[in-house]
Amino acid sequence: MSLKDSKTEAAAIVIFGASGDLTQRKLVPAIHTLRCDGLLPAGTHVIGIARSPLSDEEFHEQLFDGVQEYARREPTICRQWVDFKDRFSYLDGGYEDPDTYDRLAERLSQLDGLEDGTRGNRLFYLAVPPVVYAKVIAALGRSGLNESGGWTRIIVEKPFGHDLASAQQLNAEMHAVFDESQVYRIDHYLGKETVQNIMTFRFANAIFEPLWNRNYIDHVQITVAETVGVGHRAGYYDKTGVLRDMFQNHLLQLLTLTAMEPPVRFRADALRDEKVKVLQAIRPCTRSLRGQYEGYRHEDGVDPDSQTATYAALRFFVDNWRWRGVPFYLRSGKYLAAKTTEIAIQFRSVPHLMFPAASREEITPNVLSLCLQPDEGIHLRFEAKEPGAGMRSRSVDMEFHYVTDFGAAALPEAYERLLLDAIQGDASLFARADEIEVAWQLIDPVRERWASAGDDVPPLLFYEPGSWGPAEADDLLDEEMRSWILGCGEHRANR
Ligand code: BG6
Repeated sequence: MSLKDSKTEAAAIVIFGASGDLTQRKLVPAIHTLRCDGLLPAGTHVIGIARSPLSDEEFHEQLFDGVQEYARREPTICRQWVDFKDRFSYLDGGYEDPDTYDRLAERLSQLDGLEDGTRGNRLFYLAVPPVVYAKVIAALGRSGLNESGGWTRIIVEKPFGHDLASAQQLNAEMHAVFDESQVYRIDHYLGKETVQNIMTFRFANAIFEPLWNRNYIDHVQITVAETVGVGHRAGYYDKTGVLRDMFQNHLLQLLTLTAMEPPVRFRADALRDEKVKVLQAIRPCTRSLRGQYEGYRHEDGVDPDSQTATYAALRFFVDNWRWRGVPFYLRSGKYLAAKTTEIAIQFRSVPHLMFPAASREEITPNVLSLCLQPDEGIHLRFEAKEPGAGMRSRSVDMEFHYVTDFGAAALPEAYERLLLDAIQGDASLFARADEIEVAWQLIDPVRERWASAGDDVPPLLFYEPGSWGPAEADDLLDEEMRSWILGCGEHRANR
């Protein structure tokens, strides 16, 4: 990616929620790194808006702390910050106060008029709590800032709604002010290189796609395991739970990229049409399991009787020509034994075994593991003959590691990619309104069922921090003659 071959134009990036964590840890470090890599035009300006009064100098100091700690290009090596910081200014004001927007409009028009000015190009970023989204959107509409002489776009952070009804309402409020083509809904998983590589792997290679269907694939597993607990976000998390926090967005995004048909071209709508088709083909989930780590109820900000799940495992089926009958097992949890995000494609067993000494049980089916983080790469497990007499075999791995082929510093931060795409007007890696709504349609019934009373409701199971979740999660697959696969990283020997 280089500035030369992109259509990057100078723009004013307006961050609502400028004094928050996201701005300091992710957004400004990403903007700084883009600048260091020569991917942002000199005329780019950033206006931070928040309620607390702050001088530009104090704002710069705050941002610099974040840049120092989190930017991929350290400011000691990339010395752009000294000059670049003057392109950041701060504006304090209430998010519903018309005066805030009058002052913003004035500042934007000053920037537009500069020699290397922003020419009416605006990127609004909602880094505020979700309850404030609709207020800012409406206020932007009232002040006429939803359109300009250049382009105007708006990025919204997750969560986009907390169920189908609230997502529909937010989409309606958004569409009353912005056209869908102006809206960029973030799922930071789509900004990860390795997630994008699912598409390259599937559609830039000829050898895998012919096997990518029910004739050759036994089942698919998607694991997003975290070693962290809920930490200082306990208050938010207790109202959210793992289904809303991880499944409605990240895990379903991974499922759609794994299962979708090849889009005709890498264009936002072609790609998102295919993703929506997959989501629409998913049968309502009938097998699920939920867990909570021991000690969760003692976390600060958590209800002592909390029923919130910090772990879940769900089985889905995609009812279409390619996938009919192939289970997709999804699991995710906090405080698990290792941090790993991986997709395992388990192929079918060989139809006939000609080796006399080996029983079918000794032959492990082939597994393709897409290792998304932290040890980014791809592993293919296959059988190899054990050296020596006889014809016994053992599973071995063929491995690709990003770090070996592309170097340790090659992987950009998700926010770098996503911010640049939004500036360039490429919405391919952002969720569309209908995609968000269908995803909620799949998750809401599971959550509602868990919240209902009844004998067949999966009970809340407790698990030890540092384990792989409730032991019953193994039964879920055992009953279907399968087992959880960990095909990436150091923990890969344990299954
Ligand atoms: C966020 C969730 O969207 O993703 C967090 O709100 C979670 O709870 C995080 O920890 C995981 O992201 P990553 O990039 O560390 O896998």
